[in-house]
Amino acid sequence: MEATAFQKQYEAFVQKAERAIDTLLPPADTHPTRLHTAMRYSMQAGGKRLRPTLCLAAAEAFANQPEARFAATAVECIHTYSLIHDDLPCMDNSDLRRGRPSCHKAFDEVTALLAGDALLPLAFQLLAQGYASNAELARQLIVELSVASGSTLLVGGQAEDMRASTQGNESQRLEYILHGKTAAMIAAPLAMGAMIGGASKSDIEHCRRAGRAAGVAFQLVDDLLDQSSNTEKMGKPVGADTHNGKFTFVSLHGTKATEQRVQDLTEEAMQHLQSCQGKMDFLCALVASMAKRDR
Ligand code: IPE
Ligand code: IPE
Ligand code: MG
Ligand code: MG
Ligand code: MG
Repeated sequence: MEATAFQKQYEAFVQKAERAIDTLLPPADTHPTRLHTAMRYSMQAGGKRLRPTLCLAAAEAFANQPEARFAATAVECIHTYSLIHDDLPCMDNSDLRRGRPSCHKAFDEVTALLAGDALLPLAFQLLAQGYASNAELARQLIVELSVASGSTLLVGGQAEDMRASTQGNESQRLEYILHGKTAAMIAAPLAMGAMIGGASKSDIEHCRRAGRAAGVAFQLVDDLLDQSSNTEKMGKPVGADTHNGKFTFVSLHGTKATEQRVQDLTEEAMQHLQSCQGKMDFLCALVASMAKRDR
């Protein structure tokens, strides 16, 4: 896919995602206003909107029917809650997110904790209500997102990421962290978009696997950028992993091996996407761009 056409289409998906977020979140003046203002503060701080874009684009690649915006917003709610909590002093203790003070800095720790708490069930409310006319689709979407964000994937990965001491098999533990804290929430929106688009079971599985591979690559790039990029570009502090003594693929295997693995995983993801019976051009270009990103 040609670079400008890709960029244009990505921007259109981002706009669609941001409109959906604005429409589907409770208004900031809903009581209690400080909580609802904080939820909107973090959800409307920009960000790359990668996960909603994956969801919207996957739905469109197959058929785009019914609307994918509820699922796209649900996924971004979970992602944003995980970032709000990830930045808290008891976790990564990070004061900057998406180019502005982190939620607990702009508000306070209690509000940030609760804003994250509130975004989590909102995601499932959006799925249950948004797809109420197709109960089986709603059920499948809820299963996909609850498993991805649950104690064996997103939260489990975060739990292991926070455990300072390394015990047992380090490589295996690192894979668990990469798949859990990051790849699960890249795989879920792709699979959910495919479900909404009416893809076959096997194509949904290809999308899920593409997301897993691309998601691990995405976290490896995040770890590389933490060493090589700057705060202005990233909108969050760099050098944070070293500062926090994090156990990453880069710290274990070095930059070169990490870059090679990003390439291999990206190819694996593309192969899965290319095996699908849909218009996969944009998604392939998106996965390629995830490996080459600079923010
Ligand atoms: C940050 O995700 C957390 C990671 C999994 C590395 P993103 O890099 O997608 O953050 P935003 O949504 O663009 O802010
Ligand atoms: C991913 O890990 C965080 C989540 C999945 C919430 P990081 O801790 O590396 O993410 P950043 O670098 O703070 O965005
Ligand atoms: Mg973290
Ligand atoms: Mg962090
Ligand atoms: Mg990071």
